[in-house]
Amino acid sequence: MNFTGAHILSIKQFERVDIQRIFDVADAMEPYALRRKMTRVLEGAILGNMFFEPSTRTRVSFGAAFNLLGGNVRETTGFESSSITKGESLYDTARVLSGYSDVICMRHPQSGSVAEFAEASRVPVINGGDGANEHPSQALLDLYTIRKELRSKGRSIDGLRIAMIGDLKHGRTVHSLCKLLCVFNNVQVVLVSPKELAMPESIVEELRNAGHAVTVTDDLTTSISHIDIAYSTRIQEERFNSKDEADMYRGRFRLNQAIYTQYCEPNTVIMHPLPRDSRADANELDNDLNQNPNLAIFRQADNGVLVRMALFALVLDVVADVDKHSREVAWYNSLRQN
Ligand code: CP
Repeated sequence: MNFTGAHILSIKQFERVDIQRIFDVADAMEPYALRRKMTRVLEGAILGNMFFEPSTRTRVSFGAAFNLLGGNVRETTGFESSSITKGESLYDTARVLSGYSDVICMRHPQSGSVAEFAEASRVPVINGGDGANEHPSQALLDLYTIRKELRSKGRSIDGLRIAMIGDLKHGRTVHSLCKLLCVFNNVQVVLVSPKELAMPESIVEELRNAGHAVTVTDDLTTSISHIDIAYSTRIQEERFNSKDEADMYRGRFRLNQAIYTQYCEPNTVIMHPLPRDSRADANELDNDLNQNPNLAIFRQADNGVLVRMALFALVLDVVADVDKHSREVAWYNSLRQN
């Protein structure tokens, strides 16, 4: 695909060669993400970061990624601080805000809303999550993480064995990740959820049409015995009609160190898009896994900056110029010490 000026709305936009390009650029961003070097390549550019649903990682890492490339960030968080509460349409909002920005990231609770916004926008729009539909940058950073974790074990994405666990009906990260895996070969996917929260059949079909082996189950322990990646997800309470309904499923698929030791192959990598629900009645990834070296959740979150820097550099067409605008940093750098 031609990245320059493109909206990034769905993982289905990408072919395998595009994903490789994003990952190559993300690799090149590491000295900047780790603050060994700084670049001003996007000096003067403005990111409109518009988050109409709660977010810690996506919002802050998109903002940090843009800052690390030398650009400025303007944010809107929540409907209450937006004139959408006064009845302004997405069309008008997009026409106005795209006049203030060079690129926009948007999260919104309705499926399809970011695409609708992008149609009216005069600048590229990146989907930061639209309802239960998609979260393409998360899938890219997830796969980037999987690639890195497997590479250190001498494996590749082709032939991957992955279990996706939890609320697969509402979890947009797993929807996008499944679509992304469709451009790879010979993947074994185990989908572990309560029957009521199963992966949408259309996505299961996409996986099978791609030639992948798909197992659908509601039994955790038998599903995690022969996998490379255990990808856990949160019960998406905000997509249920009531908290009581979500509570029926909370805590059904807990992974802790004892279960990991008993059932998983050594070195099975544990991932989660985060936030993990650490309340006692959920505790989907127990804190007793925190010292497990195969818990990749914070490496995964760190990788979000690299991948989002890559998306900005590609969409704003500055990949070749990043290093030309770089210099060493002067300040004490804790990350550099690691
Ligand atoms: N993974 C993710 O989307 O996290 P946030 O909701 O904190 O952005």
